[in-house]
Amino acid sequence: MFPAFSLVVLCFLGTVLATNGTRPNIILLLMDDMGWGDIGVFGEPSKETPNIDQMASEGILFPDFYTANPLCSPSRASLLTGRLPIRNGFYTTNDHARNAYTPQEILGGIPDSEVLLPELLKKAGYINKIIGKWHLGHRRKYHPLSHGFDEWFGSPNCHFGPYDNVERPNIPVYKDWEMIGRYYEDIYINHKTGESNLTQIYLQEAIKFINKYGNSGQPFFMYWAIDATHAPVYASSSFLGTSRRGLYGDAVREIDFSIGKILDVLKTTGIAKDTFVFFTSDNGAALISAPNQGGSNSPFLCGKQTTFEGGMRVPGIAWWPGHLAAGRVSYQIANVMDLFTTSLVLAGLDPPVDREIDGIDLTPVILDGKEIERPIFYYRGNELMAVRLGQYKAHYWTWSNSWEELSQNIKY
Ligand SMILES: *[C@@H]1O[C@H](CO)[C@@H](O)[C@H](O)[C@H]1NC(C)=O
Ligand SMILES: *[C@@H]1O[C@H](CO)[C@@H](O)[C@H](O)[C@H]1NC(C)=O
Repeated sequence: MFPAFSLVVLCFLGTVLATNGTRPNIILLLMDDMGWGDIGVFGEPSKETPNIDQMASEGILFPDFYTANPLCSPSRASLLTGRLPIRNGFYTTNDHARNAYTPQEILGGIPDSEVLLPELLKKAGYINKIIGKWHLGHRRKYHPLSHGFDEWFGSPNCHFGPYDNVERPNIPVYKDWEMIGRYYEDIYINHKTGESNLTQIYLQEAIKFINKYGNSGQPFFMYWAIDATHAPVYASSSFLGTSRRGLYGDAVREIDFSIGKILDVLKTTGIAKDTFVFFTSDNGAALISAPNQGGSNSPFLCGKQTTFEGGMRVPGIAWWPGHLAAGRVSYQIANVMDLFTTSLVLAGLDPPVDREIDGIDLTPVILDGKEIERPIFYYRGNELMAVRLGQYKAHYWTWSNSWEELSQNIKY
């Protein structure tokens, strides 16, 4: 009895000492439609992600990591609120779970009643920046700076394109509150070659931000939500044609290169041990876009938009030199919503108690190698399709990719 008790106390102290008051910087590297099978360390055979693989060897690999919804908008809302889409109100009520692309839906956005991660981190003194795709509403009241971010470089939704039958839509690009250009006019994607400098621009924004705040004494939160792997897929000229996987692989290679640069900057500025970094994706790869515009969910069934594993299981890698056991694999069943709760705990904050929070605190898993039993709920729109607990998954409904079926039956 007594030794077991001491062990518990010691573990508890370990966690407290590792996190108390240190308020690490927090970086969430959120990929767009990148699949579990797109990363070398997860088994992708062409092994074109040396930097992400290196990140895993210096950190913790999560093979059982999930998103909260198989679509971009609801998944991002869940990440930033720690709540399932049916709780935070950001889901499609239609039974086919189409994303928020129709004009009516563009008028919507994240409800004011939701409390987002950057709003809470601000209370612990964080400066918060989003780089890339927001996708939680286009109007001013939904702007990221209305929801806790201090800085933004990116677009409400970067990839109107072939699906919307609009050749050159006027998507705004923002620098904070200021609209600095139009996505397709000023920050150009050449649809024929797939050339765009956007990932490089997002990388430079990240490096500038880290250099500015890294040693300022003020902790930062950087949400790097890049979208080069979402159709229309793009890469800059130095990466075009360099992958064995086509244009999609070129985009992955450029992202991998950029992540390597970001981690390098953390090391050279001496703040790596003060910075918790997590790499994941908003949902599984869009198989409808494959082979050249979509990735791989191998070895799992189906992809984006479905509640099979290919739609909702995503790569997960935690990195925090000096704090995490390097090269570990954790079979913890975890979820993007946990990043909300875990980030708050790392910042020394308590998760909100005035509402249901679905994300759990992963610090015992990350810092002490514990495993916590918890279910995964697979929603499509507002329909609970499946539940996983431990090694078991119950499918209440099954539905494979429906994009093709839909395009024949439904007009947007
Ligand atoms: C945690 O807090 C204790 C007590 O205030 C302090 O002695 C210790 O240095 C702190 N640890 C870290 C890592 O900040
Ligand atoms: C990317 O940047 C290079 C160098 O500034 C420029 O020459 C090229 O035209 C840019 N490409 C696109 C697609 O904007």
